[in-house]
Amino acid sequence: MKNLREITLAELVTQQSGAAVIFEKYQLDFCCNGKRTLEDACKSQGLNVDEVTEKLEVIFRKNTKFIGEDFQNMSLDKLADYIMFKHHSYVREMVPVMLAHTQKVADKHGEKYPNLVKIAELWHELAGELTHHMFKEENILFPYVKRLVAAYRTANEVLMPRQPFISSPIEVMELEHDRAGELMKEIRELSNNYTPPLDACTSYQLSFNELREFEMDLHRHIHLENNLLFPKAIKLETELLHGVFN
Ligand SMILES: [Fe+2]
Ligand SMILES: [Fe+2]
Repeated sequence: MKNLREITLAELVTQQSGAAVIFEKYQLDFCCNGKRTLEDACKSQGLNVDEVTEKLEVIFRKNTKFIGEDFQNMSLDKLADYIMFKHHSYVREMVPVMLAHTQKVADKHGEKYPNLVKIAELWHELAGELTHHMFKEENILFPYVKRLVAAYRTANEVLMPRQPFISSPIEVMELEHDRAGELMKEIRELSNNYTPPLDACTSYQLSFNELREFEMDLHRHIHLENNLLFPKAIKLETELLHGVFN
């Protein structure tokens, strides 16, 4: 196997999903900025690459997966369903709860801690954008991916793609992922890495914990789309268009 430091962050998480835990700890973005090698990513963030590599080696030796799923070998229709049931439903569940909590702490403590007002605004924006984004995935992109899988499995002419379609919606989805990642990063910075002040009330602490967990989930969610589902779907469409399976 190649030295871990020469492998991209996205590929490391794809090979061994437990690597996500290490990257989260060091705030190494493996989803939207996942195409950098471990070495380059560590250098650009001023991290000790030996230290991070050592931690990763432990994960690779133990074969740790973050939820025990083999995403690499999962069929694309199953992967799309997994993303919807695991990640989209989580976003839908948390959006109203976190809108209420971020707004509540901004109203109560915004005068003393003005960053809370900005965090509530950014969260509101992120929640709206993600809701719209998931709607497009669930109603346009994912059904199309499932249709490609069905075409591949059944070789049914009716289901076969006639012309390239998938690259441009995927490009839009990736741009929206970048935007979501940026908003989340801004929230993280404004919240001092989700660290509440010592006098923070329970709602304040709860709100920051929810934001921290949400960011972790978002990174895993975007990783599965950007680094697995999307490139594999583009490849499948290309192969079907070239009649590879005929
Ligand atoms: Fe998604
Ligand atoms: Fe997405």
